[in-house]
Amino acid sequence: MLIQRTFIVDFLTALLKSDDINLIRLEINKLKELINNNEFAIMGTNLDDPDSIDISINYLIDELSQIHDTKTIERIKYYINRLIKALTVVKTTKINDINLARWKEYEEIITDSLWMIDRRDSSGAHNAGYWGNFIPQIPHQFLKRYTKKGDWVLDTFLGSGTTLIECQRLGRNGVGIELQQSVADLAQANIQRDNDIFTIPVKTEIVIGNSIELDYLTLLRKLEIESFQFVILHPPYWDIIKFSDDPEDLSNANSKEVFLSKMGTLAGKVFEVLERDRYCALVIGDKYSSGEWIPLGFLTMQEFLNRGFTLKSIIIKNFDETKGKINQKELWRYRALAGGFYVFKHEYIFLFKK
Ligand SMILES: C[S@@+](CC[C@H](N)C(=O)[O-])C[C@H]1O[C@@H](n2cnc3c(N)ncnc32)[C@H](O)[C@@H]1O
Repeated sequence: MLIQRTFIVDFLTALLKSDDINLIRLEINKLKELINNNEFAIMGTNLDDPDSIDISINYLIDELSQIHDTKTIERIKYYINRLIKALTVVKTTKINDINLARWKEYEEIITDSLWMIDRRDSSGAHNAGYWGNFIPQIPHQFLKRYTKKGDWVLDTFLGSGTTLIECQRLGRNGVGIELQQSVADLAQANIQRDNDIFTIPVKTEIVIGNSIELDYLTLLRKLEIESFQFVILHPPYWDIIKFSDDPEDLSNANSKEVFLSKMGTLAGKVFEVLERDRYCALVIGDKYSSGEWIPLGFLTMQEFLNRGFTLKSIIIKNFDETKGKINQKELWRYRALAGGFYVFKHEYIFLFKK
């Protein structure tokens, strides 16, 4: 909702002059009514007007209710001052555009380490068509928390273009690397289709090639930037899904050791081109083979730690059932009961900082 900042701030400032709790409560109720009725006097005009601010109506009403329900005049004035500050001060950090003066408004941003996301965002060009793509909420969450508008984001395993679509929607420049030409073409088409709906002008680059061998310094020079502000990696979980016959495809690595060594090389390369104090997210799952759980996630995480990254968080995310497994639920349950193991229902997101 767009509101007139001056109207509300002046209204609240006037209340600070009174010591009459009942009068303040009456006035606060009047203001809530004006807001709930979308009264013209308090409505903003457009975002180009510096006096119009975009604010969540729930947040505003909650803050006013808190002022109204508070028992002492000192506390009431404290909350009024806090709301005036929230409406007038913008407090952001170096790594995102979140206004900490209004932190309660960011309800959609997850801060817990267990992500139970039931429904995939399928708005615009987002779709589950590419086998092995991640849900758009993953890059969405990270872009909001770890990047600012205009930052540069690198996705080393682009696939169908989910990250770059989110970059485009949120006003971040994005670079994606994909080994297969046909998949890069699919990503390009998805990005274009989405751009027709959500238009924020950003730079979007797709590089067709092997992300482990790529010369990232040349890429930076070509883009005329010094570093990336965020890197996201969603590699094949070794050979769980075979993406192509190309021997350079990580899903064709012929042993766990080869897979880990390649991921280690990549970790070192992205470390070099990530801006200091910035973040990197690795999305990966484990695998089960010959009666043994292989902790691919933790083994790959260790490769990143060996290359200088600091671990900031381990997120456990519920696992989208793959198309293959969805029809075999019963069979997997039987196998688990008979074989003494648990069926995969989660994957990891390791969050690192340089
Ligand atoms: C798990 S998928 C990524 C899906 C992506 N996050 C999405 O939402 O569509 C991994 C992708 O990495 C690609 N790939 C595999 N080995 C690669 C390599 N060495 N360099 C670049 N891309 C590679 C595969 O073709 C596949 O599209």
